[in-house]
Amino acid sequence: MRIAIANSKGGVAKTTSSIYIASVIVSRGGRAVVYDADPQSSASLWAAAAEQTADPLTFDVLPANQATLRQLAAGADPDEWAIIDAPPQGPTLDMAIKAADFVIVPASDSPMDLQQAWSTLDMARMSTPAALLLVKAERNTKAFRDTMDALNAMDTPRFDTIVPKAQSYKRSLGTNPHQLGEYRDLVTELQQIAGKQE
Ligand SMILES: Nc1ncnc2c1ncn2[C@@H]1O[C@H](COP(=O)(O)OP(=O)(O)OP(=O)(O)O)[C@@H](O)[C@H]1O
Ligand SMILES: [Mg+2]
Repeated sequence: MRIAIANSKGGVAKTTSSIYIASVIVSRGGRAVVYDADPQSSASLWAAAAEQTADPLTFDVLPANQATLRQLAAGADPDEWAIIDAPPQGPTLDMAIKAADFVIVPASDSPMDLQQAWSTLDMARMSTPAALLLVKAERNTKAFRDTMDALNAMDTPRFDTIVPKAQSYKRSLGTNPHQLGEYRDLVTELQQIAGKQE
């Protein structure tokens, strides 16, 4: 299963989600690779920081350019989960979406940010199944309720899993995460999607 994590909006937990999803897959006995296709290299920096500790990441984070992604699009190891941390725009984003079997569009619970999430989602869905993942959510706020209302009104395809705003996610930057939290439920949803796509 090849998954691209994409949103042209920055700071919506694309890299965090990539690292956590791969961590959950490995914790369940699967094989995962994160393809770092973002020129900011945040996923690679995360892996390098964890490598400096006694507790490194449990999977490889590989740099990926258009050629890497084209190769991934042409054929993938069916037993390996490829997680692509996509750049915000440009031909590498297009290639990441084409290479993926499924696209996750993370978005925060701010109605203002939904426009960019919807445009990324619409763009992705021209070639690849995709759904929105609500991240950094603060359930007891008006912003959260307004966001949910807007998603429901637009019939936006989304994951049932909602990732809350939490210090444990923020603090895990550059470490091998052990409290995998809501991302375990997300991977369960992804495994169901993978089962249906086979
Ligand atoms: N669930 C969460 N709760 C609180 N903070 C979070 C959560 N997920 C991510 N963060 C924090 O939000 C910030 C942005 O996350 P991240 O770098 O994963 O986003 P990104 O979409 O990859 O950003 P960029 O556009 O720079 O690539 C980071 O400081 C991260 O630690
Ligand atoms: Mg990032």
